[in-house]
Amino acid sequence: MLVAEIAVYLGSLLNERCPSLDLQLLEAGGLLHDIAKPRSIATGEKHEEVGAAMLQGWGYPKVAGIVREHVTMDYGRAMGPLTESILVNYADKRVKHSEIVSIEDRFLDLIERYARSREHAALLEKKMELYSALERRIFERLSIRPTGEELMAIQFCLGLEEGEGGNGDRRKKDHRGFARGGEIRGTGGFAQER
Ligand SMILES: [Fe+2]
Repeated sequence: MLVAEIAVYLGSLLNERCPSLDLQLLEAGGLLHDIAKPRSIATGEKHEEVGAAMLQGWGYPKVAGIVREHVTMDYGRAMGPLTESILVNYADKRVKHSEIVSIEDRFLDLIERYARSREHAALLEKKMELYSALERRIFERLSIRPTGEELMAIQFCLGLEEGEGGNGDRRKKDHRGFARGGEIRGTGGFAQER
């Protein structure tokens, strides 16, 4: 859920400058990006490929594309258009377990836990630099900072209803622009892909 919240929040802010991102698609991609994780853990398949195939089969090719592209990043994509797919991918790298973390924290944790060799660690460091460059591109367009209070507060605001106060309420009223839930059940643009 945090990945979707971050992606939609950033998408909403980017749309204030240039309205080009589909927030419903962002939310769907953010919520469903790891839909095949449980199966892939059991089978060893790539969860992004399995998840994308599932969504494609159900008639959601745009969401499938986001799911397929949420794991990896290359220079061309990082320097290219800021699409829904890029934002979900970036948001995914800002979450560790159920916590928003910095790109550096996320990758240092990956290196510590998964780097199999010095070369693999160097590769992950390169990825960290790539995501940092993407992050600069995203945030140079925004008035908030990557580790600023507005973004980092998202994790503490989930579950609050409107009227309970806090940054989460202000964010929902100002930036979301649609009611939670309806778009996933079929009233939004993403559901009209079929
Ligand atoms: Fe994933």
